Amino acid sequence: MFAFNFHSVASVLVEDGAAERLGTVLKARFGARRPFLVTDAGLVKLGMVETVTDSFLAAGLAFAVYDGVEADPSERVVRAATDAAKAHEADLVVGFGGGSSMDVAKLVAVLLKGQQDLSDIYGVDQIDGGRVPLVQVPTTAGTGSEVTPIAIVTTGETTKMGVVDGVLLADLAVLDATLTAGLPAPITAATGIDAMVHAIEAYTSKIKKNPISDGLARQALLMLGQNIVTACTHGDNMDARRNMLIGAMLAGQAFANAPVAAVHALAYPLGGHFHIPHGLSNALVLPHVMRFNEPAAAAQYGELAALMGLEGTSEAFIAWLDDIADVVGIPRKLRDMGISHNDLPMLAEDAMLQQRLLVNNPREVTLQDARAIYEAAW
Ligand SMILES: NC(=O)c1ccc[n+]([C@@H]2O[C@H](COP(=O)([O-])OP(=O)(O)OC[C@H]3O[C@@H](n4cnc5c(N)ncnc54)[C@H](O)[C@@H]3O)[C@@H](O)[C@H]2O)c1
Ligand SMILES: [Fe+2]
Repeated sequence: MFAFNFHSVASVLVEDGAAERLGTVLKARFGARRPFLVTDAGLVKLGMVETVTDSFLAAGLAFAVYDGVEADPSERVVRAATDAAKAHEADLVVGFGGGSSMDVAKLVAVLLKGQQDLSDIYGVDQIDGGRVPLVQVPTTAGTGSEVTPIAIVTTGETTKMGVVDGVLLADLAVLDATLTAGLPAPITAATGIDAMVHAIEAYTSKIKKNPISDGLARQALLMLGQNIVTACTHGDNMDARRNMLIGAMLAGQAFANAPVAAVHALAYPLGGHFHIPHGLSNALVLPHVMRFNEPAAAAQYGELAALMGLEGTSEAFIAWLDDIADVVGIPRKLRDMGISHNDLPMLAEDAMLQQRLLVNNPREVTLQDARAIYEAAW
């Protein structure tokens, strides 16, 4: 029997400058009185958080801010943010930042109700109760976390675990492209490639690929692929920034329903062991996973090539992605990232733990295959 489910956030607001009136939006849509903002210290320093808290003040909201989120947030960060939200008696949580801040915000919105501990909710559909209203405001065009039911937590020195539950889908995602105007080129490039990988892996996802995720992935790739170079070289081009932000959101909606696969499975150990940013980790293994996948996915890669106006072959698509990585200045080799050849077997073993993702890959990946892909990427 043919059947599939499609889930996404209830509402998306796309508005340049929306962050300046976020307080009014929260009050009007949710009746919020005590919002809790989850963000990182970098965005405070840039004055971006002040834009939002000014809007809270103007709307007469009693807000509190947690700015201790770090890239690849740890359990300690999630617990500290939750404690602060409880102390504030927050009635709404806002995630403001990249995937790291938005992921923490999701968990805080659930855990602040106090019914479950973080350790109880790892895995799929482990959340029992509800959550307080949740609003996500991305400041990178990358993870699509504003529209995914996923939160990724760093659980040990080198390991990450996921919480996957429909409850984590926000009530509202606010896409304000002005927030991404100052995103430095290297972060624009890495997060933009992450979003493109979401579109590509959703389009080739083995199990849950469906006509809705396909349409979203194709539109996402068009918007991202046509704008990533401009966004990196002319960061103040608002059309490029807006298209990247919408593209990343569409890719998020696609992979939330047709999950990512081996590129992400092989990228995670790079982040875990070597603290390579998520998007960059993806970029480093992308062409090598795609070449490995070709026996099963060449036709789909060819369709995406044709979509981008290229000759409709898998080779043309991989070459186009390679060109983009070169132009936006992405490092290309694991050896350039401080990874030694001796590390490759350990990385491959770690990647094999990501079965949640590997089952979605168009071609089965064995331990030997993972070794060979890292070898090619080294
Ligand atoms: N939930 C999901 O569906 C999902 C999907 C993919 C990745 N992730 C997770 O998301 C995290 C990565 O998120 P990310 O790549 O967005 O990076 P990030 O949130 O870790 O932020 C990276 C850096 O960019 C800075 N930054 C963010 N916006 C900026 C701006 N507008 N101007 C200047 N600097 C800015 C931040 O201060 C931070 O230092 C990882 O933890 C990853 O596991 C989650
Ligand atoms: Fe990703």
